[in-house]
Amino acid sequence: MKEKIADMLVNNIGKYVSGEALSSRLHISRTAVWKHIRELRRKGYLIQAAPRKGYCLTQRPDLLLPEEIKRYLNTTSVGKKIECWRTIDSTNRRAKELASQGALQGTVVVSREQTVGRGRVKNKWFSPAGGIWFSVILTPQIIPQKASLFNLLASLAVVNGIQKVSAVPLQIKWPNDIYLGKRKLAGILTEISAEMDQVNSIVVGVGINAKVDSSSFPDEIKKTAASLWEETEEELFLPEILGEILNQLELLYQRSEKEGFEGILEEWRGYDLLKGRDISIDTPSGRVSGKAAGVNSRGALLLESEEENIEAVLAGTVIF
Ligand code: BTN
Repeated sequence: MKEKIADMLVNNIGKYVSGEALSSRLHISRTAVWKHIRELRRKGYLIQAAPRKGYCLTQRPDLLLPEEIKRYLNTTSVGKKIECWRTIDSTNRRAKELASQGALQGTVVVSREQTVGRGRVKNKWFSPAGGIWFSVILTPQIIPQKASLFNLLASLAVVNGIQKVSAVPLQIKWPNDIYLGKRKLAGILTEISAEMDQVNSIVVGVGINAKVDSSSFPDEIKKTAASLWEETEEELFLPEILGEILNQLELLYQRSEKEGFEGILEEWRGYDLLKGRDISIDTPSGRVSGKAAGVNSRGALLLESEEENIEAVLAGTVIF
């Protein structure tokens, strides 16, 4: 019910809506309206009350509340269920737990902050309030060998989603780091649960330094991480950014099911940060070096040696 009240106030932001209008539209008593208003205020909505005029929303909370995120969604499965935390150890850890209990495809776990945020290759992920830290559960009918394509799909969804709300120039460092200029803005940790011949679930965990104050970055990322709001003068609203990313994720996911990955990879190639650069990759079987030459149909990074041999690398961390 308080979501409906929030909707009516948000649709009339800056204007008074009478208690009478709220109670008759929603078929609840004026006392019940007042209780819901109190609840919304507790959540961070700034609502003025004036005798004979009613209630006026002056400011919405820039918080990742399910009702705010859902305002921006036009999906059929992604984000239909959102579990929202004020603080959690890791949204990926929680999403994997939910997936193992049979959670629905598209379930999202989001938190205002993480205490044990996890990055790729067992790195820590700095996750204070102000960022967007979330994980989505997908259950595609694919073989495990295809799961790494979801790294690329997810990174494209994040780029497309951010670009719905901001014109900042973004690029992707294979497989799925999002760069703003020379600095990393967002990272993705994709984890799978699978049998030999079938994926059970994929958890796509995304971390975006959306409104993180760069002076709070720990030393190890101070020179390499970017914060979105420090790079743009545009007004940013966290639930809108997340909503747009979830829309893009579902769109690309459905497209991959209908048409396969080639079109998605083609779009991804337009954001390739590494193409043509001399790079090294730390792979599970050691370090390899060469010139980055794009990605193949499996999402592997192509590495061209001085002798012009091409090697496809499926997993690893790029140094450039
Ligand atoms: C990287 O190393 O680039 C990947 C970072 C992924 C961080 C996100 S934040 C939400 C989700 N929960 C986690 O613990 N990690 C991912």
